[in-house]
Amino acid sequence: MIWCSLASLGSAEAVGDADAGKKLFAKCKGCHEIGVGAKDRIGPHLNGVYGRNAAAHEGFSYSKSMQRAGADGLVWTERTLDAYIEKPRALVSKTRMSFRGMKEATDRANLLAYLRIYSDNPSDVPEAEPTAHATDHDIDPVILALKGDPDYGEYLSSECLTCHQSDGSAEGIPSITLWPEEDFVIAMHAYKRKLRPHPVMQMMAGRLSDEEIAALAAYFKDLQ
Ligand code: HEC
Ligand code: HEC
Repeated sequence: MIWCSLASLGSAEAVGDADAGKKLFAKCKGCHEIGVGAKDRIGPHLNGVYGRNAAAHEGFSYSKSMQRAGADGLVWTERTLDAYIEKPRALVSKTRMSFRGMKEATDRANLLAYLRIYSDNPSDVPEAEPTAHATDHDIDPVILALKGDPDYGEYLSSECLTCHQSDGSAEGIPSITLWPEEDFVIAMHAYKRKLRPHPVMQMMAGRLSDEEIAALAAYFKDLQ
């Protein structure tokens, strides 16, 4: 029987409850439609979003930031959707989606179970591998609480400034000065965890320790 085999996967919780997710979709409805006849509104309709590149729905005019993420190779999977819904700007810095984020991992799992109904081919959903689920991008509060040393940050910054201009006016390369420290730390860890797609930045962030990221955040936040 079907319910037997589902239960035997032992991941009923991680998979999410689409009925509960349908209710949670109320938070998205002001901007997004989904299901038969869904149209683009303030946000693109969300049919078939699983497995698609970010900013790939034709006819919708995305923010530059989302287009950049899509061009870098950001694909909507359970993991990236979860991160985006948790905190849109952690994944896509200047996304036009003004949604504060959904904190509870269970709520997100339920909502994603609902969205998945409207995607034909959700290939990498974690039904059979609950460990692949969702919350692996949560940043340890200890990391966010680290106090960075701006002098050490300055010492580390020279490599960054070969690409990122210190006056912030970068051609094609985004400005990283005057960011709130927490946003900076979250963005760097999103590269480190390969949630954000850009390979050069993944390598840069991958080489830095938590303390070094905090130091850079402390330095760049005041750099004019
Ligand atoms: C205030 C309006 C608003 C709300 C509320 C909102 N969104 Fe969005 N959403 C947008 C806009 C606008 C974009 C396009 C973002 C961009 O171009 O940076 C977007 C983009 C997206 C994308 C990327 C689509 C693509 O084709 O790349 C997903 C996925 C998404 N939203 C899911 C959700 C979910 C799920 C919710 C509810 C939890 C939600 N959004 C709530 C406005 C909203
Ligand atoms: C070889 C060039 C290069 C170097 C060196 C480099 N970056 Fe980047 N960085 C980029 C590019 C290109 C992007 C845009 C990536 C993307 O689309 O996600 C970026 C994006 C970022 C972002 C996110 C910006 C945003 O608007 O979302 C941060 C934060 C950042 N870099 C910090 C750093 C730090 C800190 C260093 C030094 C340790 C560094 N970068 C070194 C090229 C570079």
